[in-house]
Amino acid sequence: GAPVEIDISALKPGEMTTVEWRGKPVWILKRTPEMLASLAKTEDKVADPVSKKPYTMDLPEYCDKQTRSRKEHQEILITVGICSHLGCSPSSKFQAGAQPSLPDDWQGGFLCPCHGSTFDLAGRVYKNKPAPQNLDVPRHMFLSDTKIVIG
Ligand code: FES
Repeated sequence: GAPVEIDISALKPGEMTTVEWRGKPVWILKRTPEMLASLAKTEDKVADPVSKKPYTMDLPEYCDKQTRSRKEHQEILITVGICSHLGCSPSSKFQAGAQPSLPDDWQGGFLCPCHGSTFDLAGRVYKNKPAPQNLDVPRHMFLSDTKIVIG
């Protein structure tokens, strides 16, 4: 599949957009400072905090293990929106706090509607959920602060 170029200049902090790449939905989430700070709180709640066990692709070596993004653009998460359990597409649940079907002390993230797997705001799967692996992070690079190439 060909690389996909996307302009994120209209994306505001806390917003997510989706592009298609190789027939898959790829999410681009611009995290707020609070969303980024939440990743330290979920560090011991996720099954594989450093993405040792890849789903279909390794975490690119230039990505930080906790934010799972490029170090110079920590706020931007780029991840494939396909659950590593049976391939459903999770929904975004960005609001933190107690909500039905979500773990206690919810910090915001994603919920898979099929069998209840939950992921933090870096796409890392919570422990003891049917999904065995974190969401994939495709290779990507920034052409400028607002232009990204995926793939
Ligand atoms: Fe996501 Fe089963 S497909 S939890």
